[in-house]
Amino acid sequence: MRNAWFETVAEAQRRAKKSLPPSVYMALVAGSERGKTLEDNIDAYSELGFAPHVANLAPKRDLATTVMGLHLDLPVMISPTGVQAVHPDGELAVARAAAARGTAIGLSSFGSKTIEQVVAVNPKTFFQLYWSGTRDQILARVERARAAGAAGIIVTLDWSFSQGRDWGSPNIPEHLDLRTMVRFAPEVLRRPRWAAQWARSGALPDLTTPNMQLPGQPAPTFFGAYSEWMSTPLPTWDDLAWLRSHYAGPLMLKGIMRLDDALQAVDVGFDAISVSNHGGNKIDATKASVRAIPVIAEAVGSQVDVLLDGGVRRGSDVVKAVALGAKAVLLGRAYLWGLAANGQAGVENVLDIMRSGIDSGLLGLGKSSVLDLTKDDLLIPDGFERRLGVPAELPVDP
Ligand SMILES: Cc1cc2nc3c(=O)[nH]c(=O)nc-3n(C[C@H](O)[C@H](O)[C@H](O)COP(=O)(O)O)c2cc1C
Repeated sequence: MRNAWFETVAEAQRRAKKSLPPSVYMALVAGSERGKTLEDNIDAYSELGFAPHVANLAPKRDLATTVMGLHLDLPVMISPTGVQAVHPDGELAVARAAAARGTAIGLSSFGSKTIEQVVAVNPKTFFQLYWSGTRDQILARVERARAAGAAGIIVTLDWSFSQGRDWGSPNIPEHLDLRTMVRFAPEVLRRPRWAAQWARSGALPDLTTPNMQLPGQPAPTFFGAYSEWMSTPLPTWDDLAWLRSHYAGPLMLKGIMRLDDALQAVDVGFDAISVSNHGGNKIDATKASVRAIPVIAEAVGSQVDVLLDGGVRRGSDVVKAVALGAKAVLLGRAYLWGLAANGQAGVENVLDIMRSGIDSGLLGLGKSSVLDLTKDDLLIPDGFERRLGVPAELPVDP
């Protein structure tokens, strides 16, 4: 039998591609339009360099940090992703893996498991909220998360509803009924391991969003929830201030890409921001999040926790982001590939890859703690913060 352990996130992605039905795999690749931002999120890291030392290195390195007052064993958290059907244990496997490695998870509004189930396996769970529905409905979801014991709320505002992809979008069904199963049978039959996992679990991906459920109503389907979100008036800074005034717990705004917005978020009273372009799902040609963080962290890093997500695939990427001012990073696709490749153990494997890569980075840079990293530990090319990668091929085979 093949060794289930993998050495890199790239290998986890190869295994995910082989094991997932193409429609599910393509939904994870995502990225809007040409995929320019999707690529730049990853490529920008390789423009940053190191100049390691060889002696007087720290014999022990401390990776621990805090985010919004919560202790993390390493500066890496799980970003919320609303993907169903990757693995029957879904967010429970991810949350258990995060707990086993001493870190926190963001649970998507569009996740497949409830906030109550996820908090029960990892108390370091943040509930991610989209601005969807009326103010009363938004507060009902926030209150549910608070009552469930969520460690805080992440408000995601970096989705700009542009879905066209030059390499095509997967066809995601509304429900998995008999007709749909027949339609998807050819691709599922080519992925017997994935099908067997679901068969063993005794259920099919139900494609509902239990955290969007409102009292007295059934859980909406993914598309039902999406359409409520799309038809909700877009939030203003006053709406966000209203939310702040109704929720006293730790509150993060995910999706900041500009200094003026970061300053507004601080004014509104957010405790943290994540510099993010939704993993390349914002307007295409938005620059990489790692290019945006230096100026933002410099300006507001002493007032709020500044995090980053987008393109993190290695421990050395984490070292670079932290050196540029991130308190921690959030992983998106990296852990999804791990989940697809090997369930909970695959997510732990990804977190271990991050841990050992960060540790090596600290060793080479002669640092004893992630808290000691600074910009001076990096070689940063001129114009790094402004440039947007060179043109390249489309991100995946059609
Ligand atoms: C398939 C997919 C689904 C996502 N769903 C959500 C979501 O429901 N809520 C959210 O806040 N962000 C969502 N995101 C964005 C991630 O939280 C994160 O910002 C992004 O994946 C980071 O980029 P990376 O995948 O390169 O690490 C999603 C991303 C992907 C790839």
